[in-house]
Amino acid sequence: MQKVTVAITATGFYVPEDILSNKDLEQMVDTTDEWITTRTGIKERRILKEKGKGTSFLAIKACKNLIDKSGLDPKEIDLLIVATATPDMPVATTSAYVASKIGATNAFSYDLQAACSSFLFGMSTVASYIESGRYKKILLVGADKMSSIIDYEDRSTCIIFGDGAGCVLFEPNFEGLGLQDEYLRTDGIGRNYLKIEAGGSILPADENTVANRQHYVFQDGRTVFKFAVSNMADVSAKIMERNSLSSDDIDWLVAHQANKRIIDATSKRMNIVEDKVLMNIHRYGNTTSATLPLLLTDYEHRLKKGDNIIFAAFGGGFSWGAIYLKWVYNS
Ligand code: UT7
Repeated sequence: MQKVTVAITATGFYVPEDILSNKDLEQMVDTTDEWITTRTGIKERRILKEKGKGTSFLAIKACKNLIDKSGLDPKEIDLLIVATATPDMPVATTSAYVASKIGATNAFSYDLQAACSSFLFGMSTVASYIESGRYKKILLVGADKMSSIIDYEDRSTCIIFGDGAGCVLFEPNFEGLGLQDEYLRTDGIGRNYLKIEAGGSILPADENTVANRQHYVFQDGRTVFKFAVSNMADVSAKIMERNSLSSDDIDWLVAHQANKRIIDATSKRMNIVEDKVLMNIHRYGNTTSATLPLLLTDYEHRLKKGDNIIFAAFGGGFSWGAIYLKWVYNS
């Protein structure tokens, strides 16, 4: 009997209408369009400005986009996972609200948090559920309202992040396509270099933490950059080697969009030409959990059945990894 694999069978996305450009940022902090473009590759990002709307708003819109495009009956969804670093609220799972709002009334749901690797690690979780035969239709949403945790007075972080959501439907595949292999890693040293200090169980928020701006993202960019470059390239090279893939065998690199220079370093190490590297960082910046699914929706029309895709991500924790997947449909 053919082994059950897990394949992506549909995608959806949503980004807010409001654009925060490099020119806008020049008016807010001491920076220039030229600095941001050359150091990161980012030109603009989307920001969810309406008060009272959180990550669930982005996630629901992305799910509805997938449902409209694919004709999926939400009642058939067994499980909905929201990969996010910015849940609506710290305790009530954002996923439950999203599932109810899209009519996934037969699904159970939960949030999954591994910073910028949340979506990648979520792919692994989904694969285990489907390969085991336990569930058949799982929606994995990557959504983050990064603007809710960014200090717009800190030029080293506010230029990077944006808001957005993407989602994909996973279903069993019996042709040997879909997810082939994964190599996922973490290292707790990372929390010294990329974190929100206050608001968690170590340092609950109070007036002092707010005055010290400890409820915002802190990043030692240079250190994170070094770890990201070497680790993302390492795991991508490793997954190629493990599956005897040459650079010619790979059709697409779907890499976390944190900094164009990190993506370039990874593709160089894999010896992959620029045309095969999916890129939208210039339009959205780093949307944390949403970067990988947003790339898929942007490039869906170019992906062909049987294409070999390497997914790679790096994020807070540290957390990082690579996944090898064979695409399953032509758009
Ligand atoms: O997705 C999660 C993982 N996150 C990442 O992968 C992000 C990794 N880090 C990065 O992408 C980069 O480190 C940054 C984009 C955050 C910063 O770029 P960099 O080339 O590493 O700059 P740097 O931090 O080494 O700073 C170089 C200089 C500094 O000035 P001095 O000390 O050399 O005088 C900074 O103060 O650039 C200055 N600087 C800026 N100048 C203009 C930092 N931010 C800015 C800015 N505009 N926005």
